[in-house]
This record gives sequence, C-alpha cells and structure tokens, in this order.
Amino acid sequence: MIDDSYKKLIEGNRKYAMEKKYDDPEYFKKLSIGQTPEYLWIGCSDSRVPANEITGTQSGEIFVHRNIANLVIHTDFNALSVIAYAVDVLKVKHIIVCGHYGCGGVRAAMTNKAHGFVDSWLRHIKEVYTKYKPELEAIEDFDKRADRLTELNVIEQVKNLCKTIVVQNAWKERTLLVHGWVYGLNSGLVKDLDVMHEDQMDIESVFRYEV
Ligand code: CO
Repeated sequence: MIDDSYKKLIEGNRKYAMEKKYDDPEYFKKLSIGQTPEYLWIGCSDSRVPANEITGTQSGEIFVHRNIANLVIHTDFNALSVIAYAVDVLKVKHIIVCGHYGCGGVRAAMTNKAHGFVDSWLRHIKEVYTKYKPELEAIEDFDKRADRLTELNVIEQVKNLCKTIVVQNAWKERTLLVHGWVYGLNSGLVKDLDVMHEDQMDIESVFRYEV
C-alpha cells in the first residue's frame, strides 16, 4: 500500500490559501510583486524550529537559511550565497543566527560516535568544542554541557558571519546588526545571547578587511 500521508500537506495548503484569501483577497497578489524582508534568519533545519512560526511573522518578512546546527562555514557556497543576496540585494537590516537547546547536531558532535556523511559537517561543532573545552568539561551534566555548547556555537557562527567580506563591506556603508539567539524547545521562547555585532572592531584584527 502506498503511503499517502503526504496528501495532508496538499490539503493543508489548500486550506492555508483559502484562509489567507478570505482574510485579504489581495494577499497573494501583493506577495507576488516582490519581497522586502528586513531580516535574514540562519537557523537549524530541525523541524521544531520554524523561523516564521516562532517569531510570529508572515510570508515576506524573513529571508531564511537553515542547515544542521545553524552553521556559517566560510567555504559553504550555499550559505554564503544566501548571505550575499540578503545583504547586498535585499539590504536586510538584521541577521539572526538562531540555535536551539536540544539540538541533535550539537549533541551528536559531543560524542565519539560515528554517524557517517554528516560527521564532516558536525566536525565544525567539534572545533567549537575544542576551543572552549575547559569551560565545557567543567560542566558535568551532559545536557547542560550541550546547552552551553549550543550557545557557544551560536556565538562562533555570529563571529564567522562578521568575518565575511559581505558583512564587512555592508558595514562600510550602513548599519547591519548581527544577533545570536537560542530557542528553547521546551519553553517556545528565544533567548538573546547579547552578542550583537555591528562593526569590524568586534572581531579579531586579522579578520578585518581594509576599507
Ligand atoms: Co538543531
């Protein structure tokens, strides 16, 4: 028997489109003209952290990039292309890196278990772990240590963002704020890590490109 559970997604879509049109007959017509989002969201692929839903925003408000454990890797053309388009073309005002407690990617990276192909990706988190090893290993409880690594990982990804030429070029011309947040799966609430970056002075000197 063919699994037809996918059909509920089509039905859900029909209902969604109908409700939106009921509230505002011009809703899709307006959206189809173009997008002017003010935010770029870099979050985890985890199904429990949908950017729009948890921030109470609508279609057109957030430009989104998601990957396992919300990483910003300087050789990742996918993420870099999203960042460049959001900053240079859409002129977003804020970039938010949002991790989440209970992140499977972060937790997997803390163990010595091999997971296959994904280990190449998780290795970036192991590097963050190594960087903060004394702080992390002072935390005995695995869950609490994972929570702290989740926060440190967000902080490092915010720094990675600030090291990109795209973000630094934008800073020469305008205000662009880079934020680090962590979302709580069990509370539904976002915690602002207060690691906001707004200019080159916030990053180590060797990463600052000349004007
Ligand atoms: Co995750």
